Amino acid sequence: MRFERARGTRDFRPEEMEKRRWLEGVFRGTFRRYGYREVQTPTFEPLALFEEKSGPGVVKELYAFKDKADRDLCLRPELTAPVIRFYVNELTHEPKPLKVFYFGPCYRYEEPQEGRYREFWQFGLELIGPEGPAADAEAIAVALAALRAAGLRRFVLHVGHIGVLRALVGSLDAPAEAKADLYRRIDKDDPSLRDALAAAGAPQPLGDAIAAIAGHRRVVKPADASAVRRFFDDARAAVGRAMTPGIEAALSGLAETARLLAAYGVEEVELDLGVARGLDYYTGMVFELEAPDLGAQKQIGGGGAYTLAQLFGGEPVGTVGFGLGFDRILLALEKEGVVPPPAPPAEYYVVPVGEPARAPALHLAQRLREVGARVDVDLMGRGPGKAMQYASKLGIPKVVLLGEKELAAGTVTIKDMASGEQRNVPADEFTRAP
Ligand code: HAM
Repeated sequence: MRFERARGTRDFRPEEMEKRRWLEGVFRGTFRRYGYREVQTPTFEPLALFEEKSGPGVVKELYAFKDKADRDLCLRPELTAPVIRFYVNELTHEPKPLKVFYFGPCYRYEEPQEGRYREFWQFGLELIGPEGPAADAEAIAVALAALRAAGLRRFVLHVGHIGVLRALVGSLDAPAEAKADLYRRIDKDDPSLRDALAAAGAPQPLGDAIAAIAGHRRVVKPADASAVRRFFDDARAAVGRAMTPGIEAALSGLAETARLLAAYGVEEVELDLGVARGLDYYTGMVFELEAPDLGAQKQIGGGGAYTLAQLFGGEPVGTVGFGLGFDRILLALEKEGVVPPPAPPAEYYVVPVGEPARAPALHLAQRLREVGARVDVDLMGRGPGKAMQYASKLGIPKVVLLGEKELAAGTVTIKDMASGEQRNVPADEFTRAP
């Protein structure tokens, strides 16, 4: 009986695992440089945690199941809700800001395709405590720093503020479902948004304002203060008579975030008031990262400022964070050719020539490992020729031969696989400094 993998899941070969561990190390290092510490939460959670956050409609996207005691559980689709659950239950007394990051598998019942899996990995952070432009700018800056540290060159950053659309769409006299449909269309850049607005009964000036804000985006250099100012002046003009103190606060907050991004050295950003981030829990600044080379699944990360702690029974607290699509970033890096080639599994391949040499070969390998070398020993009883073929296939740079002659002389023969050069050296000297 042969078994196939579950749909939307992957097996990772050793070479792939090596790339994954490399990227993980790069990201971990970056997050730590900004003062974040790692946390881990369970892979499965009470189903209600995600229903509470995103509504019952979310269940169809989840791996939901009952355990043997009839509890409703699900595999986590993301880590923000689990981390805020953890915070509300156990971490509220930690000094603020509480800066945590995570890396782990997430599960979504989606139609699999390249870059979209049912099991995928997210690397993300949550910044708990501060609220406003300083916190927002830091979150964006860390996400960018992680991508830069990995060497990704082609990606786009979109930054917006959900508060503007929320206030405009929220003021429509329309049922919740019609409003949800509008957000979906805005998120997808749907050309029939105007028709949907008319169908939702949006009066002319408000409908115009929503459509204009949904499409108000411009690439600016954060250091170019007048370009930033122009973008926000135009946004105010687009909102027109629908302006409220809430919308003004959202716009001036976002302008300040853009200004701070310049201090973080961010060279370019697309200010985009049409970023709606699905129907999730965001309430403030929102951002998305895209790698255009990836085609349909080009979104490599996203996040923003949100309110969840109160929903989970906690006190109100500022929260901002993001999740990076680890698998997609790796794909993008591979497309750009910046993933380091896999290292060979060992530096030395020790080959006992003849059975009497086996125990001394194992001993030699142990001594080499004790001084820090990565060492493999032939376990197949192959002769030197075959053993060298094997070492060459795996890219192991040096083969160490130990036969009767070497044992008698207290030496080893080292073959450099690249140059073909062969040396005979005293075993003691070799194991002291291989
Ligand atoms: P999200 O946008 O749903 O945000 O997911 C973050 C990233 O995970 C996406 O940008 C994408 O790169 C990756 N991703 C999502 N679904 C899949 C999939 N099926 N296969 C491969 N990659 C995928 C969140 O999950 C929020 N928790 C982010 C956040 C943190 N907001 C605040 N804090």
